[in-house]
Amino acid sequence: MTTSRKKLIIGNWKMHNTVQQSSTLVARLHKHMLPHRNVEVVIAPGFLSLQPLSLEIDRRRIKLASQDGYYKDEGAVTGEVSFAQLRNIVHYSLVGHSERRIQLGEGLDVVQKKVEACVRNGITPVLCIGETTQERRAGETKRVLHDQIVTGLANLTAEEVINIVIAYEPVWAIGTGVSAKPYEIHDAVAYIRSNVQDLYGCGEHIRVLYGAGVEPEYVQSILGIEAEIDGLLVGSASLNWHKFVKIVEAANRMKD
Ligand code: PGA
Repeated sequence: MTTSRKKLIIGNWKMHNTVQQSSTLVARLHKHMLPHRNVEVVIAPGFLSLQPLSLEIDRRRIKLASQDGYYKDEGAVTGEVSFAQLRNIVHYSLVGHSERRIQLGEGLDVVQKKVEACVRNGITPVLCIGETTQERRAGETKRVLHDQIVTGLANLTAEEVINIVIAYEPVWAIGTGVSAKPYEIHDAVAYIRSNVQDLYGCGEHIRVLYGAGVEPEYVQSILGIEAEIDGLLVGSASLNWHKFVKIVEAANRMKD
């Protein structure tokens, strides 16, 4: 199986927290979260908070991610924020989160361009993929994951693919507070790795995260899965500093 790597824990704050609240939350994380050698901690606040937080965070302990970005670098596109504008502020960006795919109609072609734009601007994309309840019931999980991987990575070279992150987020478990079962996560992550292996030859080297319904009590069982999960994408629980610190601590204990 894959070699042991630092666990990557990303807190996706979604459309929560004002600039002031974001600053308070980061101050709490600084105070209560010890530096962990085995874990890379990343937070993804809303766009407005990114710039002020970039001046406040201790980057050796916490890195920033954006939740999205636009695929053109500049131009007459009212209301958008490009990866070129984000490039010196964030290390990572989520791309293709299911809330954007479903609620905002973001198609496979747009996700593909955003992944490419991220890489072009030196930002590591966290490509979010996952099936809906209906797709799972219809037995289409593998087809959906395959399509999202093939299209999402299509404009990258194998050298670029090796450095990106894929987050498996079953849509049916997002926001429920109940994670998918370990065997369900195992099957999906193993399938993702085998797809990336077939397409780019780096299935074991790419970082794959799990997200959806993650709470502190699930961390050890999820990260202990044999298909090797490189970390977690945490939504609701990342808004509570106490829970987020517990998640990071539990991940830190997973060192083998
Ligand atoms: P959740 O969200 O942890 O609240 O399920 C995860 C996500 O949407 O990234």
